[in-house]
Amino acid sequence: MTYYYKGFPQSDRDEKISMINVDELEERAKKVMPEGAYYYIASGAENEWTWRANTSAFNHYQIVPRALTDMDDPQTDTEFMGMKLKTPIMISPIACHGIAHKDAEVATQKGAAAAGALFSSSTYANKSVEDIAAAAPEAPRFFQLYLSKDWDFNKMVFDAIKKAGYKGIFLTVDALVSGYREANLRTHFTYPVPLDFFTRYLGGKGEGQSVAQMYASSAQKISPEDVARIKKESGLPVFVKGVMCAEDAYKAIGAGADGIYVTNHGGREVDGAPATIDVLPEIAKAVNHRVPIVFDSGVRRGSHVFKALALGADIVGIGRPYLYGLALGGPKGVESVIDQLDNELKIDMQLTGCKTIADVKHAKIDRIHYGLDTMPSNTDPSRMEPYPVTADNQIKSQEPDATSGASKH
Ligand code: FNR
Ligand code: LAC
Repeated sequence: MTYYYKGFPQSDRDEKISMINVDELEERAKKVMPEGAYYYIASGAENEWTWRANTSAFNHYQIVPRALTDMDDPQTDTEFMGMKLKTPIMISPIACHGIAHKDAEVATQKGAAAAGALFSSSTYANKSVEDIAAAAPEAPRFFQLYLSKDWDFNKMVFDAIKKAGYKGIFLTVDALVSGYREANLRTHFTYPVPLDFFTRYLGGKGEGQSVAQMYASSAQKISPEDVARIKKESGLPVFVKGVMCAEDAYKAIGAGADGIYVTNHGGREVDGAPATIDVLPEIAKAVNHRVPIVFDSGVRRGSHVFKALALGADIVGIGRPYLYGLALGGPKGVESVIDQLDNELKIDMQLTGCKTIADVKHAKIDRIHYGLDTMPSNTDPSRMEPYPVTADNQIKSQEPDATSGASKH
């Protein structure tokens, strides 16, 4: 069935999704979503180099299998900011879930709660923070803030999210203007469903706004002093979302941030920025366990979650895959995506002797250079052809030694 909002088709499904991997959901969602909505989700900025690098860069790190570990039944539950989570996989904040499902963020929250995952809702959600909270009152929830120039708006938001039981704020600092997103220009994308905080306060409904117009309604200048003011006025812990270097981690912690959120916005902002997994080790070293670290961008495998945890993250967010899951299966679709990645994570934990997420955070990760710049990522949809086998990238066959039969070295 499909529900229509003023002619815009929205899924009304609520069913588990069977999948081989989460990456296949991109193509499957493309078949059920309007073109503009799909490309708004799927696309990155400019040449989409960073969008691709986010996933393929996980190949820069290797999980080292471990032997004789005498363990079974790995457990992925973890704790974050005092909240008990069934999985370290988190729902990253995404605007306007209504482009995927008629129940929008309420459906996503239900799916995240069913999977025991931390949910975070965007300032530019379709549903109100009250409705989202009512969907799963006891579920762990964070709010992603696009700081407004208008501090009366900001205070209205703080009051609303505290009353709705949100446990913290992700202050987004990497999207002061929209990245140059060509897909949105080609499809003339505008938000097709009203955004609650626009309707409630910002004037208009947000419906019919372009991404650039939506960004223009938030602050372009954010200072370290703003972090302290948000903490004071909201009374909630504040993580700075969009940190991509050690210098900014120091700056954020110095400003009083309660956590660091390492992300490049899924490659939607600065194209040519490094993949987030490649900057995580440097940032983790700078943070030095003083505050928790959230990580996202390009995560498509349980092994990606494993690597991010082992390289310094405390929890790992996913973006696009759960929105595809929402379009294909509603709440149960979102739950299916989280479960798929959590199951893949458990396999790697069993094969590396990691009983708990704390063990994963101490797991051995190698960084062996395989000339990876040309090796396709196994999850990069644009490069599914096999790695080319040529004379110079194969181990040379060696004549066996006549006496021992062993090959000569
Ligand atoms: C986002 N992201 C985002 N971030 C944020 O702070 N506020 C927001 O409203 C949004 N909106 C949004 C919409 C869409 C369609 C996407 C794909 C992303 C960024 C998001 O939180 C996260 O950083 C990335 O999505 C992670 O990358 P992957 O997992 O999508 O590759
Ligand atoms: C985006 C905004 C909403 O990435 O953060 O589309």
